[in-house]
Order: sequence, then structure tokens, then C-alpha cells
Amino acid sequence: MPMPDTEPQAVDSPITASAIFIVMTLTPGDDHASTVRDWCGDVAAFVRSVGKRVPSGYLSCVCGFGSHAWDTLFGAPRPAQLHPFREIRAGERVAVATPGDILLHIRASHMDLCFELATQMLERLGDAVTVVDEVHGFRNFDMRSMIGFVDGTENPQGREATKFTIIGDEDATFAGGSYVLVQKYLHDMKGWNALPVETQENIIGRRKLSDIELASDVKPSNSHSSLTTLDENGEEMKILRDNMPFGRVGDKEFGTYFIGYARSPAPIEQMLENMFIGRPPGNYDRLLDFSRAVTGGLFFVPSADLLEALVEPGAQAAAASAPQPDAPAAANGDGSLNIGSLKEQRHHA
Ligand code: HEM
Repeated sequence: MPMPDTEPQAVDSPITASAIFIVMTLTPGDDHASTVRDWCGDVAAFVRSVGKRVPSGYLSCVCGFGSHAWDTLFGAPRPAQLHPFREIRAGERVAVATPGDILLHIRASHMDLCFELATQMLERLGDAVTVVDEVHGFRNFDMRSMIGFVDGTENPQGREATKFTIIGDEDATFAGGSYVLVQKYLHDMKGWNALPVETQENIIGRRKLSDIELASDVKPSNSHSSLTTLDENGEEMKILRDNMPFGRVGDKEFGTYFIGYARSPAPIEQMLENMFIGRPPGNYDRLLDFSRAVTGGLFFVPSADLLEALVEPGAQAAAASAPQPDAPAAANGDGSLNIGSLKEQRHHA
């Protein structure tokens, strides 16, 4: 569990009717890096200012950083499990890795809130970043994914969601943080819709209309549900998903933006391996015969406290590591804590 005084970002906030997903790359240069660090300190204020205008709008924003971006912007210490997205190739199926330094996951009950927040935040970032992908997602009837099945049913909730998504003592410097993996999928809707509903149900592992899970004696081992169910020593390992449908009808673009949060990238990566390579190999997810991943990225989501502190070079360790009652943190002469030599490492990153 996170340390009690470390506030996570809005990772576990409720699924909303609208979302914007933005992936950006950093423009090289110290000035640009410093613009981004300053902006980190303002993210929460942006959300407050825009969100206050519609108090019932549930506006939230989660901000994540890719592996290279972390080194460039903040240096050491770095989150223990942060690494670049690992591409998976298995025959025709490819989980591609695409460029991305910063991810914004903006959610609200109305698109205008998401749009205004994205506009304000990107204006502040200016030339310091380039947007390489922007997806506007919408709620599709009763939480149905683009392929017509209800999506998100088996998500953990409440305390369970926190347990599976928020880093605790295993990486105490980054307690309250999280990892997020995103992939943009495009569907062959013509092919998918040509399948009998029963075949689709066997691919997903649930009934289409009622959303009831197929009984274990009839649910195929290569169903999406089976391959994404992980058991670790008898305990199910869950992730938190907030997928959104998106598309452009005129372009025949029909997609699912997959977004999964967890306290380590490992369970999400294991699910991807099961889907793309198969469990056992070859017994892959037939959903991928109708869905192609066109982006892929892994990001670390610092706690809200750390995000706000990242503005100050050298302050990240101080914010990330809450003083322990029995081991008071020893401050250096410059006021930062004794964790790594942040300033030196950042300047040659
Ligand atoms: C093509 C994109 C995808 C679509 C359309 C999709 C759709 C669905 C649907 C309809 C369900 C059943 C309802 C539910 O429990 O949410 C589901 C379950 C699930 N999906 Fe996906 N999904 C996609 C990609 C992924 C990926 C890439 C992962 C993980 C890396 C994933 C992980 C899961 C998990 C963990 C469950 C719950 C399984 C269970 O406990 O029964 N999904 N997905």
C-alpha cells in the first residue's frame, strides 16, 4: 500500500463518458526540459481551474513519463521498473513500440472539459513537446467497446484497485506512483461483424448481450478473458483498464484505445504475451485477428505529490520519500534528501 501521506494521481478515478489520450515527445534542449519541469508543478492547478467550472464534471488528468524522458528530465533516482515498451512479434501479430515521452490521460463526463484542459496544458508546453498521437474517446452505449461487448466489467474497484495499481514499499522512493501501458488498436469491423455472435462470444469469453462470463467448462483457453486472467500463487493479478472506443466513420477507422494501470508493468506485459504469443505459444487471442495495434508505450505515473515537486531540480527525492518515523531523513546542505545525487546526474542526462 502507498505511504499514508503520499497522494496518488487520479489513477483510480471512475470511468467517465469522455476521454482524451495524448502522447508527446520532448523537444531536445535544456530550455525545453525546464519548461516541462515547470509545467509538472502546474498540472494540478490546471485541473482545478478547468474542473471548477463544471463541479459535477469529474475532470481528472493522469500524467506519465516514458523511460528516456524520465532520465532526460529528472535523472536519478528512477522508478525501479521503468523501461521502454518491449515490442512483441508473433507471426502476423505485432505489439508495436512507438515513440512517446509524456502521456496525458484526461477524463471527464463531458468532452468540453477534456478539450479545454488539453488546450490549456499544451499551450503552456508550447514548443517543448510535439504531440505524436491524440485520441478522443467516447462512451459507447452501456460501456460497450467498439466490438460491441461490455468493457471494464472485471476491473478491480475501491481498495482492490488501489492494491493492484499503486506502488507501495516495494519501491518506497516512488510510493504512490503507478505504471501505465497504452496501445491504440484499429479493428476490422467488417470481419468482426461477419462472425456469428457465438463465435465472438467464444473469442471474448463472455456473452455479448448479458455480459455474463462463459462457464469455465465451455470458455475456450484462448478466449480474451482466459488469456488475460493471471494467477500468481493462487491469487489473481489484476490491472485497471479504462479503454475507450474512438473512430472516424468517413475514414472507416474504428478503434479501441487500450489503457492499463498496474503497480508494476509485469502483469500487463504478461497479458500481452499471452494475447500475442499465446498461452501455451500458438494458443493466441483471436481478437487480434480483427484488431491491429498501431501504437504502444509504457509510462511511469509519479504520485501527485512527486509530480508537483518535479518542478524543483533535486526535489524529487525529498517529495518521493516520506520521512520515516524511526529513521528521520538526513537533509544535505542544499536541502535535498540523501537519495542519489540528483543535480549532478540530471545535468549530464
Ligand atoms: C483490442 C483491444 C481490446 C478490446 C476491444 C478489449 C475488450 C475486452 C472486453 C470486452 C473484456 C470483457 C469485459 C471486462 O472484464 O472488461 C475484456 C476483459 C479484459 N481485458 Fe481486454 N480488450 C482489449 C485489449 C486488452 C489488452 C491489450 C489487455 C492487457 C494487456 C486486456 C486485458 C483485459 C483484462 C485483464 C480483462 C479482464 C479479464 C477477466 O478477468 O475476465 N485487454 N477486454
